[in-house]
This record gives sequence, C-alpha cells and structure tokens, in this order.
Amino acid sequence: MAAVHTGTNNANSVVSPGETPIDAPLAEGMLADNEFPKIRFLKSATSQAWVDQAIAHMDEILLDHAQCERKAAAVAIQIMSQYPAKPMLVKALTAIAQEELEHFEQVNRWLRKRGVKLRAPKAPPYGGRLRSLIRRQDPHRFLDSLLVAGLIEARSHERLGLLGQHCPDPKLAAFYRGLMASEARHYGAYWVLAKREFDAETAEQRLDELATVESEILSTLHHHPRVHS
Ligand SMILES: [Fe+2]
Ligand SMILES: [Fe+2]
Repeated sequence: MAAVHTGTNNANSVVSPGETPIDAPLAEGMLADNEFPKIRFLKSATSQAWVDQAIAHMDEILLDHAQCERKAAAVAIQIMSQYPAKPMLVKALTAIAQEELEHFEQVNRWLRKRGVKLRAPKAPPYGGRLRSLIRRQDPHRFLDSLLVAGLIEARSHERLGLLGQHCPDPKLAAFYRGLMASEARHYGAYWVLAKREFDAETAEQRLDELATVESEILSTLHHHPRVHS
C-alpha cells in the first residue's frame, strides 16, 4: 500500500492510508482531539496513473474539485437535516458544511486566477455508486450515510495530498497541502459520529464492506480527469 502524507500539523510525515492518525486540529465546534482514533478507511492506494492524469489536466481537476467541495457541504447539511435532534451531530456537521463552502470559494478563486470559466463538469460514477450503497431504512441509512461521507472525505484527503506533492505549480501545491488537513478532520468527524451512534463492531464491519466497494470503483481509471476518477 503506497504511502500518503497526513495533515498540516505534520505535513511531511508519511503513513500508510490504513494507519492514518487523526492529528490535525479541529475546527471550532467540532469534536475534541482525543476522540479521534487511528482508523482504517481506504482499502487501496491511488495509482500513479491517476496522479499523471490529474497533473496533466489541472484546470479540469480544479473545476471538478470545486463541485466536490459544494457537494461535501450539501451532504453535511443533508445528514443534519435528516437527524436534527442530535446536538453533537448538528454541531459537527455545521462546522464541516461551513468549511466545505469556504473551500468551494477558495477553489473558485483559483479557477478565476487561472482564467478558467466556472462550470460543473460531468461527475464520475464514484459518488453515485457509493450513495447507491446507502440502505433505505434507519438505523442502517444513518450508519451508511456517515460511513460513505467519511470514505469520500478519506479519499479526498489522500488525493489532495497527492496533488500537494505532485502539482507543478508550487503555490497551488501548497494550497492542496493545506486542504488535505481539513479533509482528515472531516473523515475523522464522520467516523467518530458513527462510533457514537453505533457499536464499534457494527460500524467497523460495515465500513469494511463499503471501503471494499470504494476501492473497486476506483480500480479502473475513469476516462475523464476527476478528483475521484
Ligand atoms: Fe473540503
Ligand atoms: Fe471535506
């Protein structure tokens, strides 16, 4: 399993995705540092082929990335709307939604700076296929929603880190290294919420199933350059 970098507190430390420590500071309103366990999310590391594809099409990656940030805010708002009577969940997801919208604006700023006209490129199958795995009835829907959101955040953390390592524009690379710490906090928050609401064995077993499919979805490189291609 290839190594990835972890958050800004320790931006140069290298760990395997299966052992990523959640050591980044939390945004205000989110969960306490000591609630973050070492977690096992990703079943496979991103390929060099994805890195090569992304680096060769940075404008298209940025356009897709902006949409990923917007959708991440929408997912946090959707989950808190479905479960509005859970104070810790509402607080944590409010913080995530706010931060994702800030990222959306930051990525749009990069697009404007590069003279790229804003648009929403066609999404790859990744998000839709993962969402199709969310079971319809609670409590399963609740657990799956948290775990799928967490998996997407974990993959974003890994891939933004790879862009931070390989992007030829040093300022854009630095921007990506800054963002990856946020995504680490986000997947940590979703995982902690899942383990608060469900017993650990249930959450870990379902995470294992979903992570296996997530890895399978990405095993074939999508023909369009995307953050989750
Ligand atoms: Fe984000
Ligand atoms: Fe995120």
